Amino acid sequence: MSVNLRIPGPTPCPPEVLAAMSGQMINHRGPEFAALQERLTEKLKTYFLTSNDLYIISTSGTGVMETMVVNALSPGDRVLAVSIGAFGDRFGNIAETYGADVKRLNFEWGTAADPEAIRAELKKDASIKAVLVTHNETSTGVTNPLGEIAKVVKEQDRLIIVDAVSSLGSIKCPVDEWQLDFVGTGSQKGWMVPPGIAMVAVSERGWAAYKESKMRKFYFDLGKARDFAEKGQTPWTPTISCYYALDAAFHLLDQEGLQGLLDRHQRLADMTRAGIKNLGLKLFPQDERYASNTVTAISNPEGVDGSKLVKMCREEYGVVFSGGQAKLSGQIFRIGHLGMVNEDDISSALSAIEKALGALGYSSSGVAVTA
Ligand SMILES: Cc1ncc(COP(=O)(O)O)c(C=O)c1O
Repeated sequence: MSVNLRIPGPTPCPPEVLAAMSGQMINHRGPEFAALQERLTEKLKTYFLTSNDLYIISTSGTGVMETMVVNALSPGDRVLAVSIGAFGDRFGNIAETYGADVKRLNFEWGTAADPEAIRAELKKDASIKAVLVTHNETSTGVTNPLGEIAKVVKEQDRLIIVDAVSSLGSIKCPVDEWQLDFVGTGSQKGWMVPPGIAMVAVSERGWAAYKESKMRKFYFDLGKARDFAEKGQTPWTPTISCYYALDAAFHLLDQEGLQGLLDRHQRLADMTRAGIKNLGLKLFPQDERYASNTVTAISNPEGVDGSKLVKMCREEYGVVFSGGQAKLSGQIFRIGHLGMVNEDDISSALSAIEKALGALGYSSSGVAVTA
């Protein structure tokens, strides 16, 4: 049985990407690597819609979150950590771990952050230096109105540091237009590449903050990344196979183009949400306008054990979903629809849910996929 991996990352990789990863190693201090890094960096900027500096670092999404924190801030800096879920909480935790003075602004899980509430906090407290915010909260399936949030943060003249791990390349995130100072994403999401590299863009204002930043850093020091990039290198041995993978992925991503990717993610998310509602199930996001185009979170139906549902879909129908994270464990399940995914993948995912619900004694109100 072929597996339909419908979790919000790691996402399935195209065969061309997997094949590229079997390429022989090269000298990471030689001309071939320099050309590869240069090519990928410039290409990534066209997807980030930025002319800011951009670096590829060998780490996961959490590593890029930590990178942004330690390069922007000093211990004792007052920071507003906006959270709508598990990853927003994690951002605040990282900043706290490194000694920032973190003011939490938490919104109910399932809702988006309110830009007006952020404005009020920033107006009230002029000592807040930076705002940490998640673009797409993978744990709740909610996308924050980042453009509006960024506008507020810039009006109030603070730094904005963004976790765009599960959005960039799949959900609109024009880095320069929104003046994002630090913004990071990870290879295993919409990029169709295995876990192993993360990408981060830094604005001029971000570099000014870096100059003042006193948080301890070594491996994740972006100043070192910048110095080595000038020589066509990375400070440390990079995950070369993932660079090959990204290079191959760009051949495919470019065929669709950024707008094509954004449109496909919108279309498949709409299809997923419609199918879920047809079955009589409830989307976890309270306001569908903020429902994510990369991951759909669904409340476990009344009387159905969500973990049984997920298990049955995996074992009987070969479709792999995620359960709920942190305090949402046992309350929701999630369907990933980012990266390499098409209508057939969503149809098969929805019909697996329909069949499993039936087998578990839940009478759904309709047919998941209508022709
Ligand atoms: C929004 C968001 N931020 C951060 C992370 C953390 O990434 P990783 O698990 O690669 O460290 C994830 C991973 O799912 C994510 O979805």
